[in-house]
Amino acid sequence: MHKKILFLKKYLKNPITMGSVIPSSRFLGNAMYKSVKELEHTAVMEIGAGTGAITQHISSLNPVLVEIDKEFCALLRTNYPHLNIVNSCALEQLRKIDERVGLVISIPLINNPFKSSFIPLLNDLYTKGLLTWCVIFTYGLNDPLEQVNFESKKRKRFVLQNIPPAHVWVYS
Ligand SMILES: C[S@@+](CC[C@H](N)C(=O)[O-])C[C@H]1O[C@@H](n2cnc3c(N)ncnc32)[C@H](O)[C@@H]1O
Repeated sequence: MHKKILFLKKYLKNPITMGSVIPSSRFLGNAMYKSVKELEHTAVMEIGAGTGAITQHISSLNPVLVEIDKEFCALLRTNYPHLNIVNSCALEQLRKIDERVGLVISIPLINNPFKSSFIPLLNDLYTKGLLTWCVIFTYGLNDPLEQVNFESKKRKRFVLQNIPPAHVWVYS
């Protein structure tokens, strides 16, 4: 319950960067995990880990967790002491990537100014062969990474048991 209250508190403060009022459901977490498992094995970075609702399902893959909020990071460190947790803006961490990585993305992109810097960064990493794949969920109907020149893109899963219902997109 503590996680839900903390999440709601953050949402009320900053709805655009939070995107939803409660953490993702276990059904969405599981759908994200299944989607990642179908892809090439590589180092994984999860950006926008929040309270760890997706992390819980992908922690066996030893992802690096990137989260901008300090309080969420403290919670993640308590629950995932074995993982590398970075309290930073995802853009900063993406600029440092020098080895192939797969990205699990939870940062909402709808109406988020973050997107205008994020898209060119992804294009750059993908062109350099450093970005192997991306898995992202979105509450909207549109392709959230439409402007990135991935060779393959697919709306892979739809999860009704989430508030709000979410689509899982996979790019490689
Ligand atoms: C929709 S919530 C997802 C949280 C969690 N992964 C889940 O599915 O419940 C978005 C998360 O992204 C984080 N976030 C937003 N902008 C960010 C940024 N620029 N860099 C890192 N994290 C960011 C927010 O603090 C929030 O925890």
